[in-house]
Amino acid sequence: DMDNFIKELMGKMTIDEKIGQLNLVTAGEAVTGSVVSTDVEAKIKEGKIGGIFSMTTPQRVRAAQELAVNHSRLKIPIIFGMDVIHGYKTIFPIPLGLAASWDMGLIQETARIAAAEASADGLNWTFSPMVDISRDPRWGRISEGSGEDTYLGSRIAEAMVRGYQGDDLAAAHTLMACVKHFALYGAAEAGRDYNTTDMSLHRMYNEYLPPYKAAIDAGAGSVMTSFNDINGVPATANKWLMTDVLRKQWGFDGFVVTDYTAVNELIDHGLGDLQDVSALSLKAGVEMDMVGEGFLTTLKKSLEEGKVSEADIDRACRLVLEAKYKLGLFEDPFRYCDEERAKQVILNPAHLAKAREAAGKSFVLLKNDQQLLPLKKQGTVALIGPLANTGTNMPGTWSVSADLANTPSLLEGMQAVLGNQVKIIHHLGSNLLDDTAYQERATMFGRTIPRDERPEADILAEALETAKQADVIVATLGESSEMSGESSSRTDIGIPAVQQRLLAALLKTGKPVVLVLFAGRPLTLTWENEHVPAILNVWFGGTETGKAVADVLFGDVNPSGKLPATFPQHVGQVPLYYSHKNTGRPLAEGQWFQKFRSNYLDVSNEPLYPFGYGLSYTTFTYGEVTLNATELQRGGKLQVSVGVTNTGNYAGEEVVQLYIRDLVGSVTRPVKELKGFRKLRLEPGQSQQIVFDLTEEDLKFYNTELEHVAEPGEFAVFVGTNSRDVQEKHFSLR
Ligand code: IFM
Repeated sequence: DMDNFIKELMGKMTIDEKIGQLNLVTAGEAVTGSVVSTDVEAKIKEGKIGGIFSMTTPQRVRAAQELAVNHSRLKIPIIFGMDVIHGYKTIFPIPLGLAASWDMGLIQETARIAAAEASADGLNWTFSPMVDISRDPRWGRISEGSGEDTYLGSRIAEAMVRGYQGDDLAAAHTLMACVKHFALYGAAEAGRDYNTTDMSLHRMYNEYLPPYKAAIDAGAGSVMTSFNDINGVPATANKWLMTDVLRKQWGFDGFVVTDYTAVNELIDHGLGDLQDVSALSLKAGVEMDMVGEGFLTTLKKSLEEGKVSEADIDRACRLVLEAKYKLGLFEDPFRYCDEERAKQVILNPAHLAKAREAAGKSFVLLKNDQQLLPLKKQGTVALIGPLANTGTNMPGTWSVSADLANTPSLLEGMQAVLGNQVKIIHHLGSNLLDDTAYQERATMFGRTIPRDERPEADILAEALETAKQADVIVATLGESSEMSGESSSRTDIGIPAVQQRLLAALLKTGKPVVLVLFAGRPLTLTWENEHVPAILNVWFGGTETGKAVADVLFGDVNPSGKLPATFPQHVGQVPLYYSHKNTGRPLAEGQWFQKFRSNYLDVSNEPLYPFGYGLSYTTFTYGEVTLNATELQRGGKLQVSVGVTNTGNYAGEEVVQLYIRDLVGSVTRPVKELKGFRKLRLEPGQSQQIVFDLTEEDLKFYNTELEHVAEPGEFAVFVGTNSRDVQEKHFSLR
């Protein structure tokens, strides 16, 4: 069995070979740092490499694996990882967009497809899911996670792990998941990437840690540390986090890898020199060192000097070898290299169809006055704006394996669907950003958007000429894909000013204007909400964005996405989230301002669009919410029922949401917490009765002693179409 196999193997290993297993190198170019791995071939032969990342194709992976299993002394296979975040070649919407689908089956399926494609191309490990809760849309990486909510984020974390790993890690079509970034990376101060995190245990346990735990409970094989420090100790050297919480409290038995050069960065955090920080990190509970080679170059010396023990190195080596064993690599090191399968599965039509469906389901209809949408398939549509004809921006952030050059732009995708039913004309409209240098920063990695250096007025005049010829204007505005994602934080989270001026001019034409909004984060859209009749937020929809936008704009698909993160009115409200505490001085309901209450002078406390919000082309009417009892018995369940009817003219999907509030507790509790949701599809006139079962488990929280308890007392339960528009009922727990 595994234990004996690994014990025997480790019995033959030298210290250098054991340390070699802890070394993860990058195949080629540096991805997100300045460090590039060198002498990879020679190191493989010497047994100094345990894993390689961003190496793909069966040919290349096989060549590297052959060096390991035929030319290294102990023939230990290499593990091959990559950032397969929202698809491999078939790119699905960015994770924040997928979260907006609230469709766990769909999300799991996207992960399964990503695994099928990547595992055919040589990979067996993905650096996903990213489950960092974030309540700060200034932070660019909010795009890569599931948004602000603990419960929704936890369900998505599980779905993704199941999708990647299936029920057999050794199967040739599955990948090992890597939950990241452990931990609290999404709570970086001021939304500035890599910044310090400081958080109470209360908030950590109740709000930020559960999604990581959910992924681990679902069986995730590995965990990645985060770059940030937490209450003074960087995650990558945080023994409490990686040993006490992760291993002892949660029982995690996989391995921990650092983020890119995170061990080396402990020097900049101020923890010592490379030898010190490598030892600290190993002892804290890290097993694999990504790219920086601190482990490779210093651990032996630390062992000799007694700064780490052989047991520390053995632990790390054993866990890495176990992962390889579970992946079936000792049995067949080439099982993930299959040219034939790669040809069949990568970008196959069924995967592209799923990507189109997923994109359509990720879109959130934010506004639709007088049912401007859906549009009729006739006449002329002017697609105007810097996001209209840029295929390279459609996949969105962290789609490193995407074939950018062959990704259709919105214009191309829409034309492919609409043929000559609808005439589509197009103009750039404006630059992405006023500032050339800002635009350069916002279009890195080949995610280009053409720039027109003529005076803004000249460009606008031309755009208005194009607009004149159309029946409807579709303004395609917002962020480029590189305006969100890693190292893409923003202080102003509005649509860039130059694009807003274009939008205002388009509205002045008097023609109907639909805003198709590209965004990797919640944006502030107060002005747009006031002036634009229809707004469809399409995030970054992946390979099939253009087709999916056509499906939704012209009514073949009814939008059903619901926001996984609050859209504030103003960036100054951040962090703004629905599950806030009541405070001792809450505002009276419906009030904007009361002196000596918790509020602002200039902006109300309300979001622009609340968590869970999203419109449909049809209307859903809720009947009265009923409870089958006024008291929940411990060990029993309380049934919360509601009937939902499609009272409009289109078939459509609705996400029915259930929230609770613990009205009296030993600690303060949020005014609302999501505890259940159900996505249903109803034909016009059709009704469905929904029953949620609430149990004691749903009422539990971590108290001051960090015990997970449900305290007796009165609770409110809320059911509705978003976190704001709900019915409220009460029950108690004895
Ligand atoms: O997986 C990523 C991580 O999310 C950010 N830093 C680089 C890693 C590897 O590419």
